[in-house]
Amino acid sequence: MARRRKRKKFELSVPLNHLALIMDGNGRWAKRRLLPRNEGHRRGARVIFDIAEACVDLNIPVVSLYAFSTENWSRPQEELDFLFSHLEEEFRNRRDELIENDIKIIVMGDITRLPQSTQDVVNEIIELTKNNKSLIVNFGLNYGARDEITRAASMLASDYKEGKLEKEAINNKTFAKYLYTAGLPEVDLLIRTSGEERLSNFMLWQVAYAEFIFTKTYWPDFNKKRLIKCLKQFEKRNRRYGGL
Ligand code: IPE
Ligand code: IPE
Ligand code: MG
Repeated sequence: MARRRKRKKFELSVPLNHLALIMDGNGRWAKRRLLPRNEGHRRGARVIFDIAEACVDLNIPVVSLYAFSTENWSRPQEELDFLFSHLEEEFRNRRDELIENDIKIIVMGDITRLPQSTQDVVNEIIELTKNNKSLIVNFGLNYGARDEITRAASMLASDYKEGKLEKEAINNKTFAKYLYTAGLPEVDLLIRTSGEERLSNFMLWQVAYAEFIFTKTYWPDFNKKRLIKCLKQFEKRNRRYGGL
């Protein structure tokens, strides 16, 4: 009787402390199938949590996901309504699973502009998962890097004015403490799906020395196997940080 050979588990040979993902292509995925855009968002949301679980398996400690940008408000109201109500539903449905998998949810971006019901669900999940340790999933929600940086500058100015911070103490390290990502490691790898090769205002400060991978796969078709393919490319990169 032929015995099925167990496939070797993929293990990263280089450190990857923070993975950032620009989850793009939901609309085009749907269009290609002659489906409404919302169907693409529905499928895309499912993939988010599959990838989060894959990151636990792959021992990646932090993953940042671009879910909604400060520029996405320009979309039709109908699409915005769907995006938020579906996000709420998805968070509710996945709540127990996230707790079981020891996943901690945090958010970057000004969520006070989101519908109240969405804010409630998001805040609840943040509270419920706050002591989890296996993986941090950092959601960009109404996130824009330019807003993040100007917000940091404004908070820093207040602290200076109130005498909590000396001018001489302002450097890269102290500035980074005012960003949403305070306390998180630097982004090592940024992956954008859908074939677009741009940052679209995502984590401009944090990707200063990240490796970039642009894949043609639309987000709803992204999966663990495709993630591992990207990780294999990442392993081959020669990260020099300005040195030799
Ligand atoms: C990414 O997919 C999801 C969000 C920006 C919310 P898109 O909705 O941008 O899909 P495309 O780029 O139109 O295919
Ligand atoms: C970036 O995707 C934002 C998210 C993935 C949430 P977009 O689809 O909004 O980016 P552009 O408009 O193509 O640059
Ligand atoms: Mg897009």
